[in-house]
Amino acid sequence: MLTNNISYGKQSIDESDINAVIETLKSDRLTQGSKVDEFEEALARYCGSKYAVAVSSATAGLHLAYQVLGLSTGDEIITSPITFAATSNAALYLGADVKFIDIVSSTILMDNDKIEESITSKTKIIVPVHFAGLASDMVEISNIASKHNLKIVEDAAHALGSRYYNGKKVGCCDYSDMTVFSFHPVKSITTGEGGAITTNSKELYDKLKLLRSHGIVRDSADLKYKSTVPYYHEMQFLGYNYRMTDIQAALGISQLKRLDQFVKRRNLISNFYRITFLGDSNIKPLENLDGRYNSYHLFVMLLDDADKRNKLVSFLESKKISTQIHYMPVYKHPYYIDKGYSISLPNAEDYYKRCVSLPIYPAMEDCEAKLIIDYVKEFIDLEQEIE
Ligand SMILES: Cc1ncc(COP(=O)(O)O)c(C=O)c1O
Repeated sequence: MLTNNISYGKQSIDESDINAVIETLKSDRLTQGSKVDEFEEALARYCGSKYAVAVSSATAGLHLAYQVLGLSTGDEIITSPITFAATSNAALYLGADVKFIDIVSSTILMDNDKIEESITSKTKIIVPVHFAGLASDMVEISNIASKHNLKIVEDAAHALGSRYYNGKKVGCCDYSDMTVFSFHPVKSITTGEGGAITTNSKELYDKLKLLRSHGIVRDSADLKYKSTVPYYHEMQFLGYNYRMTDIQAALGISQLKRLDQFVKRRNLISNFYRITFLGDSNIKPLENLDGRYNSYHLFVMLLDDADKRNKLVSFLESKKISTQIHYMPVYKHPYYIDKGYSISLPNAEDYYKRCVSLPIYPAMEDCEAKLIIDYVKEFIDLEQEIE
């Protein structure tokens, strides 16, 4: 029996992370110093993009990304319903609407075959979500976007460290205008709270940086009005305080050095689960598509029905193992229902009834993974006895 709970996900912090943060705490700059630039450069280098902009969360990143693409009232984004609400909330912040399209049941990625039929004159941005760490088919999506003159923002909150099928890293932005990452503690790396946007467009990069910090311009070359007042600065756009602190960036730089190691460990744990459950007709892990390197932010599996899924969650809870349900289709949240989102997408609905996320994180020990597997098997055996 475990003495401590096993949570479905958590951060991996070591002495080098702690020292990096302490060093910044002892420095002159806790925010707006050089660590954010350093983190951005390291992240862009890792992903293979020209630019990265660090922000206070992926939610802030999505908001900025949509805004710099000009999304506003009357426009629409197309995205998956199986995502965290922030993917679509950020469009609502700008007065835009969201068209949710159904998922492919085996991967839980948005069904690319349904994108074109959902495009209207209002559609502005396609937002693929690399669910659980599995990269979407970006070549297909970018072909559709080019044909209809649409923009693409990748929601890669789950997918730092993942690769598309051609080996390119998620975040390189070869197939999209921007990619947004999250550094919440359960994600591939953490900065406490935090996020980033990568892009290859200098124009978008400049706009993102401006809006991240109130829309205020300081560089004399970019001023609208010339002034002799010392420290003169101008607010040229209505921006936000979506800045990441240097304390967070110092942690991010340190974490990024171990990202590949973290993802490797997540792959080992997921293989362990996958191989054990192979051939068990009661449990169906999500498919990992051939050739796509998956960061395995989540390990999701499906049970036969909602009753069995709910019972497994309670059974594991009684053994001090926390699981999670990722996610209820966004359109089912009361806020969305009240706004008139009265849709029901069959694959998303079916998935929500049967899914469960088992614990997975880099610091998880082999014996913990084995214990979880043993409990899942025990549950299945008990259920079979009842049947
Ligand atoms: C798919 C997805 N998008 C966006 C977000 C928002 O991330 P953050 O918590 O950094 O704002 C999350 C957070 O879990 C997420 O899972």
